[in-house]
Amino acid sequence: MTQEFPTLTNDLLLRAARGEQTERAPVWVMRQAGRYLPEFRKTRETHEFFEICRSPTLATEITMQPIRRYAGLLDAAIIFSDILVVPQAMGMEVIMNPGPHFTDPLNTPADVEKLPREVDVEKELGYVFEALTLTRKTLAGQVPLIGFSGAPWTLMMYMIEGGGSQTRQKSKTWLFKHPEASKQLLERITDICVQYLIGQVNAGAQLLQVFDSNAGDLSPYDFSTFSLPYLKRIADEVREGLKVRQLPVVPLTLFAKGASPSLAASAGYDTIGLDWTLDPRDVAKVTDGIIDGRTITLQGNLDPVVLYGGREAIEREVKRMCSAFHDARRGACKAWIANLGHGITPGVDPEDMKFFLECVHKYSAVPSS
Ligand code: CP3
Repeated sequence: MTQEFPTLTNDLLLRAARGEQTERAPVWVMRQAGRYLPEFRKTRETHEFFEICRSPTLATEITMQPIRRYAGLLDAAIIFSDILVVPQAMGMEVIMNPGPHFTDPLNTPADVEKLPREVDVEKELGYVFEALTLTRKTLAGQVPLIGFSGAPWTLMMYMIEGGGSQTRQKSKTWLFKHPEASKQLLERITDICVQYLIGQVNAGAQLLQVFDSNAGDLSPYDFSTFSLPYLKRIADEVREGLKVRQLPVVPLTLFAKGASPSLAASAGYDTIGLDWTLDPRDVAKVTDGIIDGRTITLQGNLDPVVLYGGREAIEREVKRMCSAFHDARRGACKAWIANLGHGITPGVDPEDMKFFLECVHKYSAVPSS
């Protein structure tokens, strides 16, 4: 490690991600630093989205907002950034308006040739590394810091669609019409993700999550062809690169939303994130013994919309979620990490988020046997 950081006092997340059974489930929430928080909206009044990402002090401030508000309740911080900083590093212009918008998306495989062959990750994404280092110091060891990247398929989809899209028609057409050019693009994105994730650990990230949020748009065959090989390359090459650079081999999490859990589990990550359509008991049956007999930790998976349902529903559904993960744990997986099944949305009352966290603390506690 190139730098000294304060000692970690709450390592529940890291223990669970390594497969250890913990006294209660660690909990964090995707998009925990986001528009549902009034303090986030206040910062956004005077700062553009990517301006915040590019400023280590602002990114640290935003990352810390939920940690301060929910002190003692959240078990991890996730660095404030976006998956689309990778296409930006590849020379593409992206603005947030209010969703992401690419000014010049890829239309044909010839457009890929216009992107620079070599990307200097340290130079293009050094601001994320600085933000991670500053955040890790600011956290003072309270909770671990999560770094992340988009997965190659999800990033390719945005680079071709130019923003969100209902049908993914443009990007999926590439897969069927130009499979070889698609693979070349996916390889190029993968190369950057690997360097980017290794750089994040060097800068202070203690766990890495790869977001393949659009995995569910692909059939199992297409996911196996156009996503899985690159996800595997990331897991293998990040672990190898960390060893070579004598950096800690941190736990890796894959959130492949909508993908078949047995395929996602075969990518070789320590933890797989589940969305709310999956029952952890079913998933546990297929995740046992996939990698060298090692059990995989599961993360998830409350439907984010439950947070609009009022206290009674939140308590009931968290209880249900905890008992499903507890049953799953008696089977294949020894540990789990509580989260929503996707990101928290802008209209949630921050007090309801607090109640959700309190319920997880209460109902995920392991009954003494
Ligand atoms: O989880 C966290 O708190 C860390 C920060 C984070 C953001 N985006 C902040 C953000 C992370 C991990 C992401 C990942 C991300 N970004 C994904 C993968 C996860 C997922 O949700 O599926 C994707 C697909 C993106 C691309 C992206 N960025 C979209 C589609 C949007 C618009 C979404 C919306 O809610 O309207 C964004 C914007 C974005 N990224 C916001 C935040 C807090 C809201 C933008 C704003 O402040 O105006």
